Amino acid sequence: MGAMDDYRKIADVLAAQIADGRLRAGDRLPPQRRFARQHGIAGSTAARVYGELIRRGLAVGEVGRGTFIRAGRPPAEPADALVDLELNFSVLPEQPALVAASLGGMLRPDVVESALRPAGAVGTAPARETAARLLSRAGWAPNPGHVLFAGNGRQAIAASVAALVPPGERLGVEALTYPVVKGIAGRLGVTLVPLAMDENGVTPEAIRSSRPLRAVYLQPRLRTPLGGTMPARRRAELADLLHKLDLYAVEDAIYAFLPEDLPPLADLAPEHVVVVDSLSKRLAPGLTTGFAVTPPLLTGRIASALRSGGWSAARFALEAATRLLADGTAETVQRAKCQDAAARQALMRERLAGFAVEADPHAYHCWWRLPEPWRAETFVAAAARRGSAPGRPGRQPGGQPHHRAGRGRHPCPPVRRGPERPRARRVDAPGPHLARERGARPRRFYPVGPRVHSVARVGRPA
Ligand SMILES: Cc1ncc(COP(=O)(O)O)c(C=O)c1O
Repeated sequence: MGAMDDYRKIADVLAAQIADGRLRAGDRLPPQRRFARQHGIAGSTAARVYGELIRRGLAVGEVGRGTFIRAGRPPAEPADALVDLELNFSVLPEQPALVAASLGGMLRPDVVESALRPAGAVGTAPARETAARLLSRAGWAPNPGHVLFAGNGRQAIAASVAALVPPGERLGVEALTYPVVKGIAGRLGVTLVPLAMDENGVTPEAIRSSRPLRAVYLQPRLRTPLGGTMPARRRAELADLLHKLDLYAVEDAIYAFLPEDLPPLADLAPEHVVVVDSLSKRLAPGLTTGFAVTPPLLTGRIASALRSGGWSAARFALEAATRLLADGTAETVQRAKCQDAAARQALMRERLAGFAVEADPHAYHCWWRLPEPWRAETFVAAAARRGSAPGRPGRQPGGQPHHRAGRGRHPCPPVRRGPERPRARRVDAPGPHLARERGARPRRFYPVGPRVHSVARVGRPA
């Protein structure tokens, strides 16, 4: 066997070890001289083995540091792949490098040592300080002493509801709401009460007439699935009502990082509002932490719910998040996401020109009313046949048929899983073409949410 074949065969062996997991992403290969000695080959052959692995995209050489096994690349996307807008999380192409650069400093034994310890619901002092800074907006600045940490936003919601609403009691929610809340309430034995809304969100009258309630769960900013934002006046009215009724609210601020200049309900009713948020959308779902900013008198209760529910943040994630927040990486990513969302909105407006679309120019969502004669069910089925993963149809409480575009799963291009920015193919998803077929003419719309299947109907107002 010549030297030529030799180095390729050795590279094959290493490639097989990578394929079966014996060598893993991030593993450092030994220095070439040592590798040569171990295999009884010349140093020049070892260099060719490493070169071959790099050429095959299996390893990466870093000047002065050595040769590392590369992270597996996502499988190439076939041209006819489903346009799957199922999950509304964007991970931008520049994120991995930014996050890796920030987290590189964590890989020291002393830092890892503290990251391996348990974390309580109250996290650490630096985590509380950085989280309070991150969550501050429009003049509202949470007290770091009242910031608690959950594994993610859903866990922060679950703990807040568990702390505020005993089993068998009633939680008021927007009549169309974030569906996970339905599941959480079911698990906790809490009864959901749908609250009637107008274009500004839940009305004060709906809350008044739905009593007794132990708490309400509200999304003032970009509520799921309709996408609207509660104006300042309605916030003030609701805050006033919370005071009067001595009622608690869980304020879901998951989308509040998308630009808005309105203070949260918590700013107006600090004794009655728990703000829940997370890094899932701001940063990435794989590296998230949930936050609950509590009124002073509720901190202990919610911390205890986080602990007993097993919902507290993991220390490693907390340390990583603190680092990403403290060095500005999270903010850089967040800013890029705001631009990304705006770019997608611009594409959507172009592609759906002439249709009735309701959208906030900063949001990752839009709500699209289908023109006649389309019905939600037929549209969804037809879009699916053409390679778009649309959401399930449903009915609004008023019984009006509509296409529910949920969790970004709909033919307008709000969010696509994966690192890519919107590309022409993406927005060539069949939605707009389909909608124009069958002699359909754009007409006044009715809402189509970008979160098709995620719409949770909570039943009819009692
Ligand atoms: C409205 C709303 N609230 C909360 C969450 C939960 O976020 P996390 O992924 O951090 O649990 C989501 C996630 O999709 C959401 O859409």
